[in-house]
Amino acid sequence: MPHHSRFVADLADEAATLAVAGRLVQAMQPGLVVYLQGDLGAGKTTLVRGLLRALGYAGRVKSPTYTLLESYSVAGREWAHFDLYRMQDAEEWDAAGFRDEFDGTKILLIEWPDKAAGYLPPADWVVTLVRMDEGRQLQLVAQSELGEICGHALQS
Ligand SMILES: Nc1ncnc2c1ncn2[C@@H]1O[C@H](COP(=O)(O)OP(=O)(O)O)[C@@H](O)[C@H]1O
Ligand SMILES: [Mg+2]
Repeated sequence: MPHHSRFVADLADEAATLAVAGRLVQAMQPGLVVYLQGDLGAGKTTLVRGLLRALGYAGRVKSPTYTLLESYSVAGREWAHFDLYRMQDAEEWDAAGFRDEFDGTKILLIEWPDKAAGYLPPADWVVTLVRMDEGRQLQLVAQSELGEICGHALQS
């Protein structure tokens, strides 16, 4: 997978989103920072649910709409799922202590990363969900060396 190359998947329905998550999760390594882009209802949280379910997590995966952060410990890996939609000011990222979540081992999944622009760690993967006439299209771009390594695992 050459630098900044892409992975694209057409997802006809929610089951397809959950299925592609099962494929992505196999390629994800500790410390990976994933920005989740796409409109409200595009399927960002559904994708996160799919990642955790694929690892055997049976509990609820709720959107951290008000808490901004939900943490999970699944299959020996730590996950931090952010939804920054309701963040008023990018400085809240530091004020909330979220900087400490970026420890090189946790996998960070960040919805609405633009809300904390300038404060977030850079993305290894940018995953964008686009609404199609029917279903969604997932577009993944690797943006770092770690992102490329994980992206390469995705191709094989
Ligand atoms: N591939 C898909 N095709 C059609 N609908 C989907 C697909 N993936 C998810 N959905 C549906 O779209 C909605 C996405 O909601 P959600 O995951 O909360 O979006 P977001 O977090 O991006 O705001 C859910 O109702 C889900 O069932
Ligand atoms: Mg969401």
